[in-house]
Amino acid sequence: MKQQLEAIRSSASAELAGISSPQELESFRVKILGKKGELTSILKQMGGLSAEERPIIGQLANEVRAFIEQEISERAQSIKEKETEQRLLSEKLDVTIPGNKRPLGSKHPLTAVLDEVKEIFVGMGFDIVEGPEVEYDYYNFEALNLPKDHPARDTQDTFYITDNILLRTQTSPVQVRTMEQQKPPIRIISPGRVYRSDAVDATHSPLFHQIEGLVVDKGITMADLKGTLEIFVKRLYGEDSQVRFRPHHFPFTEPSAETDIMCFACGGKGCRLCKGEGWIEILGCGMVHPKVLSGCGIDPEVYSGFAFGLGLERIVMRRYNIDDLRLFYENDLRFLGQF
Ligand code: DAH
Repeated sequence: MKQQLEAIRSSASAELAGISSPQELESFRVKILGKKGELTSILKQMGGLSAEERPIIGQLANEVRAFIEQEISERAQSIKEKETEQRLLSEKLDVTIPGNKRPLGSKHPLTAVLDEVKEIFVGMGFDIVEGPEVEYDYYNFEALNLPKDHPARDTQDTFYITDNILLRTQTSPVQVRTMEQQKPPIRIISPGRVYRSDAVDATHSPLFHQIEGLVVDKGITMADLKGTLEIFVKRLYGEDSQVRFRPHHFPFTEPSAETDIMCFACGGKGCRLCKGEGWIEILGCGMVHPKVLSGCGIDPEVYSGFAFGLGLERIVMRRYNIDDLRLFYENDLRFLGQF
């Protein structure tokens, strides 16, 4: 019996060393010290011992029990410490690690430059108005002095809804809509989408954007047109940019002009960007045709006005040196993220 007790004592330490969870520890305790445990079953046999042996074995049994209890409680303690240590390790928080940044969107380059353009004109006292993209033939062509058989219509082929309703090819119809509703003085710009049935390439798109401008009042002259557009160009492209006006023809203005800015890549000498011209066309303009004024109920003997229309994509391409129009519409974040 003595040997059995010693054996229990000596194997207990080794077994305990391999125990790493509270559950295992509890089943070990039951196995040795429980009601049907190894130590208990030995003690149950003590009745068969002689009177001399009994106290000796009894004392040894108590020692072994105390020893094992002590060992178990030490093991429990160390398991608990290990667990705490592990938990702290897994919950460790490094407050110096940079946070997760949410990617922040930015304005589309077309929107960013349009906002600048609006600000410049609002600063000069212009209102911003809108017009429909699905438009009557009358407003898009007829009222702008482009009757049904006018050859200039050929350059603005578009998408027809019916014979008389189409996707507008220009923002100029907003001039007519404005003059029908509002009497002079008028000072507006009208940005928006326009459509033409052009095939897509680096400089063409069936959808693009224009910004229309219209000023009507008593005594408005070509000098007002030139002064206003010169200020606009200098605000947008810098004070040292140069502007020139070239005679042109538009059916709804007389006289008409196209406005160029001096190429900022070569300073007017001629390069690849300006195709050797030294100048880059940015808008069309002119004095509102008397026929257009009177068609809107404004007396051309009393009032005069100027108008202009610029292509938004063009000025944004010039502004950021973008060489392909398609980039604006493809939603490629590698492109858009640069602005
Ligand atoms: N609407 C013309 C176009 O799309 C541009 C234009 C030219 C607008 C002269 C005007 C203007 O207001 O006066 O080609």
